[in-house]
Amino acid sequence: MTILPAARGAGAEPSNTIPAVVLGGTGYVAGELLRLLSTHPHFKVGAVLSDSQPGEPLAEAFPHLAAACGDTRFASQAEVQQFMTRSPRCALFCAAPHGVSAQLIDSLLSAASAAGTCPRVVDISADFRFSSAAAYEAVYKHPHGAPARLPEFTCAVPEHLGKLETAHVAHPGCFSTATLLASVPLLSLGLIAPTLFVSGVTGSTGAGRKPVAGTHHPLRHSDLYAYNALSHRHAPEIEACARAASGVEAQFAFVPHSGPFARGIHVTVQAQLKKPLDTGGLLAALREFYAGSPFIRVASSAPRVKDVATTNYAHLSAAANGRTVAVMCAIDNLNKGAAGGAVQWMNRMWDLPQTSGLTATAPGWT
Ligand SMILES: NC(=O)c1ccc[n+]([C@@H]2O[C@H](COP(=O)([O-])OP(=O)(O)OC[C@H]3O[C@@H](n4cnc5c(N)ncnc54)[C@H](OP(=O)(O)O)[C@@H]3O)[C@@H](O)[C@H]2O)c1
Repeated sequence: MTILPAARGAGAEPSNTIPAVVLGGTGYVAGELLRLLSTHPHFKVGAVLSDSQPGEPLAEAFPHLAAACGDTRFASQAEVQQFMTRSPRCALFCAAPHGVSAQLIDSLLSAASAAGTCPRVVDISADFRFSSAAAYEAVYKHPHGAPARLPEFTCAVPEHLGKLETAHVAHPGCFSTATLLASVPLLSLGLIAPTLFVSGVTGSTGAGRKPVAGTHHPLRHSDLYAYNALSHRHAPEIEACARAASGVEAQFAFVPHSGPFARGIHVTVQAQLKKPLDTGGLLAALREFYAGSPFIRVASSAPRVKDVATTNYAHLSAAANGRTVAVMCAIDNLNKGAAGGAVQWMNRMWDLPQTSGLTATAPGWT
């Protein structure tokens, strides 16, 4: 992993590279960002903020990245801020928790603005997913950390928004990405009644690095169980993103499950058809909708988590029986559902090919 000269306080970055900053440094999503950025042709990591381990080597937190990290160490917030105020341009990825991210981003953007530098932000937390502080506070039950910045963010999966009108992006999250990829075509094409029933299964990395009862191996291994049925915080976020992407006001009845694997998400979306359609017609409609979307594969065979785990690809399939549709989507929660989706957005924000650094395929037999 290259540490850019600006990070050492010695001049500007090479002209063909864009310095990247990662917040939430020791977390799982941050680790996935660092893995992707270590081979990215244009973004080079300049600073990685760790609130808990400033000065410690990245390789201690991420031994699997040791060959790429070398002796690079986590930075403090003051060091990150100094880096950003010295870098005329900067790609800022935030992988800190919700409730923390908004204030952190606001503070770094204010310092950058005062120094005349122009960072672009992709926030992977939930802090900028809603367009109003009231909508955020209704779900998260605490005041928004930077309400004045909400108009600077757009929340969408990259496949569902042509032109980005704001300076920054809020990543919709992992369950939402899979659900939206499966649902938005159905809503946009007017194929279904706007009540969708969603069953999703996530791997344990979806719960982050800090061990809790729900992610403890003896409890989670070889088991499958639902949690927060019809009351998960992501349902209102999915509804807001689906409305923005399709123009349809839809209700999502969402039941998440814990799956006995580390990486990946599988979602099944069901709805009532408005007019008769068979499986072939539905698959053709999905293929046409995602024509030109290089990370989306629509196939007649059922999508499998192992085929996309560790990648930025999403595999979809579907069935229709004249009255009901079922669309299945498999993604990797840490990659397409977080770090990869964020890099895809950042590629677009810097006018790079959206596939830059993201085309590695799955190992298949993990
Ligand atoms: N895991 C997923 O599949 C997934 C998918 C989509 C979106 N997300 C979102 O992405 C973000 C990161 O998720 P994650 O799974 O990587 O979580 P995680 O493993 O718990 O990591 C979050 C990191 O944020 C930092 N942090 C924690 N509390 C903090 C505080 N009070 N102030 C500043 N920094 C703090 C910590 O790193 P330092 O102490 O090193 O700073 C921590 O390791 C979250 O907002 C999550 O909702 C996660």
